[in-house]
Amino acid sequence: MGLVLPPGGRVWSLAELAVRIAHLTDLHVQRAPTWAELLSKRAVGAVNLYVLGRRGHFSEEVQRGLVASVREASPDLVACTGDLTALATEGEFLAARALLGPLFEAQPTVLLPGNHDTYTWRAWRRRSLEAHFAPWVGEGPWPRVRRHGEVALVSLDVCRAHPLSSGLCPLEQLERLDALLGDPALGGGAVLVLLHYPLRDRRGEPYGPGTRSLQNAAALEAVLLRHRGRVTAVLHGHEHHGFRTTLQGIPVLNPGAGGYADLRARGRRAHWCMYTVEAGRLAGVERFAWDGARFAPEPGGPWATGG
Ligand SMILES: [Fe+2]
Ligand SMILES: [Fe+2]
Repeated sequence: MGLVLPPGGRVWSLAELAVRIAHLTDLHVQRAPTWAELLSKRAVGAVNLYVLGRRGHFSEEVQRGLVASVREASPDLVACTGDLTALATEGEFLAARALLGPLFEAQPTVLLPGNHDTYTWRAWRRRSLEAHFAPWVGEGPWPRVRRHGEVALVSLDVCRAHPLSSGLCPLEQLERLDALLGDPALGGGAVLVLLHYPLRDRRGEPYGPGTRSLQNAAALEAVLLRHRGRVTAVLHGHEHHGFRTTLQGIPVLNPGAGGYADLRARGRRAHWCMYTVEAGRLAGVERFAWDGARFAPEPGGPWATGG
């Protein structure tokens, strides 16, 4: 194990300086909407969930198992890339807060909205996720930066209420991200960029379809690639079957849905990831999969099972 001599004289091993970051996404906590809440775009979503059976794609048992698994792993940081809820109702936000609050309070946590957390104009306009998860969503203009030692987490908010569930990174955020990544004040450590939508699909091609993707992903990629040497990895969710790819050498990582029910016969089960950052680089990735009773390291290594 290598040694590092910091100012002050104490010798630290790299293991001591390593930062472990748990990445979870797309838990999709569900609670049936009230009749009043159905008078919106939610009517279509509720039919999908409660009439056509999509509700059964997610499981409270697995969601509780994920919280227990991450707490047991005792990460230094937690990063959550959105879709905590399904229909962005008050009941869902309260249930998600009750489930995840104790985990998020256990260490520094960074959280951003997914398109299901901004599902209706009302939820988006009221910033419902920020209202219920204020300590972890942060405040001020996006992108927001949270530091932990040598790790900087840079969060983008690219979700909105949109009839086709597509996202958009506002021009102000692109400009601020460009300035941020070019600013020496960001420091020389690892920089993880977080957003909800994928940039690329599992084959490394631009992510589609356009109805449920980030409309201006190419513009965001152009900013990231201008600072390719500064971006350690991009973390995202939204696509419930996890995958990892690269953007001209930058790792782009998606654990897959953390709240998926145990539907292995249909190729679906829940996952979360643990990343280890050492000396400003991504030194390790572990992926945990629900095995029917608990989360365990994915057989064969991260994303080896393909889903
Ligand atoms: Fe999702
Ligand atoms: Fe999503």
